[in-house]
Amino acid sequence: MRVTVVGTGYVGLVSGACFSDFGHVVTCIDKDASKIARLQRGQMPIFESGLEELVQRNVEARRLFFTNEIGPAVRSADVVLIAVGTPSRRGDGFADVTFVMEAAREIAVDLQDRTVVVTKSTVPVGTSDQVEEAIHDLRRTRDIVVVSNPEFLREGAAIEDFKRPDRVVVGTDDEHGRRVMRELYRPLFINETPILFTGRRTAELIKYASNAFLATKITFINEIADLCEKAGANVQDVARGMGLDRRIGPKFLHAGPGFGGSCLPKDTAALVATAGKHGTRMKIVEAAIEVNEARRAAVVDKIVAACGGSVDGKLLAVLGLTFKPNTDDMREAPSLAVLPALGMKGARVRAYDPAGMEEARALVPGLATAVDPYSCMQDADALIILTEWEEFRALDLDRVKAGLRGSVVVDLRNIYRPADMAAKGFHYVSVGRPQGRSPTLDAS
Ligand SMILES: NC(=O)c1ccc[n+]([C@@H]2O[C@H](COP(=O)([O-])OP(=O)(O)OC[C@H]3O[C@@H](n4cnc5c(N)ncnc54)[C@H](O)[C@@H]3O)[C@@H](O)[C@H]2O)c1
Repeated sequence: MRVTVVGTGYVGLVSGACFSDFGHVVTCIDKDASKIARLQRGQMPIFESGLEELVQRNVEARRLFFTNEIGPAVRSADVVLIAVGTPSRRGDGFADVTFVMEAAREIAVDLQDRTVVVTKSTVPVGTSDQVEEAIHDLRRTRDIVVVSNPEFLREGAAIEDFKRPDRVVVGTDDEHGRRVMRELYRPLFINETPILFTGRRTAELIKYASNAFLATKITFINEIADLCEKAGANVQDVARGMGLDRRIGPKFLHAGPGFGGSCLPKDTAALVATAGKHGTRMKIVEAAIEVNEARRAAVVDKIVAACGGSVDGKLLAVLGLTFKPNTDDMREAPSLAVLPALGMKGARVRAYDPAGMEEARALVPGLATAVDPYSCMQDADALIILTEWEEFRALDLDRVKAGLRGSVVVDLRNIYRPADMAAKGFHYVSVGRPQGRSPTLDAS
């Protein structure tokens, strides 16, 4: 099967590489010529574990190609996936589908009859109808099937998620569309992955409903963490006690600095805007957005309080800049709000991140960075753990103690045990946990 992917970003590149690994012949296009040039040289434009090997293997097998020339790639395709960005529209929170509609118009005339066009981008309910309309407006015949196939991969585990997803959602009422999508995902059928066929609008909404639910779950446990701090309870134990209930599940119950990234903030805002457009409200999601936004300021207050009420003139070492580990994606990362706010309060910040520093320097003017965690914290008044990269989980605590000028450690991801940190003489502040021992966790 010949597959063309329009938009070679996090989703387009991973999808293209994985579909080629399934045995399809895939061409990835992007309007960013420098991105395609890098890929043609074998360089990855993003940091994603295992991606480089996967791309290299399939390029060598002549199943994966990169090009800027849209015409030939579309003319030869059985399936064209649109995987371009859908950022938040400034001002009203709606998802901006300009890039999706542009891509639809760019491919329209070159599509062969009966080619299946797939909206893989996250798009508001009804967008695939518009895509189909826009394509047919530019053609003589109305023979193109547009299918909604939202993507659920997580950055940092994208290949595993793509190849072993919890489910694949395919939105179409068209039998030819279903047949082609079954063929596209054939290796997953063999693995007995649940493939859910729905109406097109339903598929579009499943994506937003899922992300809004995950954002709400994170926000919920963050509020429980605040209560734990006031009431002397331990949020990790509460989360564990909740998560063992199979109706709830343990995932997305980690208290921290609030949700960020390229999806949850924009998708929650878009769902609220979509509801408004349809004359209804998503009050729970509205509350989750509001609570999450307030959390950025609360995190800054927590750091200031841990530093004795002022960070003025203090040097703060920050470990972790990306919105989560194992990605270089800085979109809507908590660090982008927290670092400038600390700067406004007079702090000097020095940061280290395994993959996000280049992007962070472009986004936070004047950001000082270090080459590793220990040089980052050298002579700092306080250490702040903002993202839970694996290499921050097992720091040599004696070296941390020797390097830091102060003893304050603010762990916004709860990756250390309060008792261990207290034993080393740190003034350790984490999220939703009492200082000292936690009987349940220590027993586990
Ligand atoms: N990043 C994620 O983790 C994730 C997960 C699930 C779904 N999504 C959704 O997938 C979509 C893509 O997200 P992303 O993170 O991959 O975005 P991205 O910004 O990384 O990539 C989008 C790419 O599309 C290219 N592009 C834009 N218009 C084009 C056009 N007309 N022709 C060719 N190329 C074009 C851009 O140059 C860019 O390289 C979004 O709707 C997003 O919400 C993202």
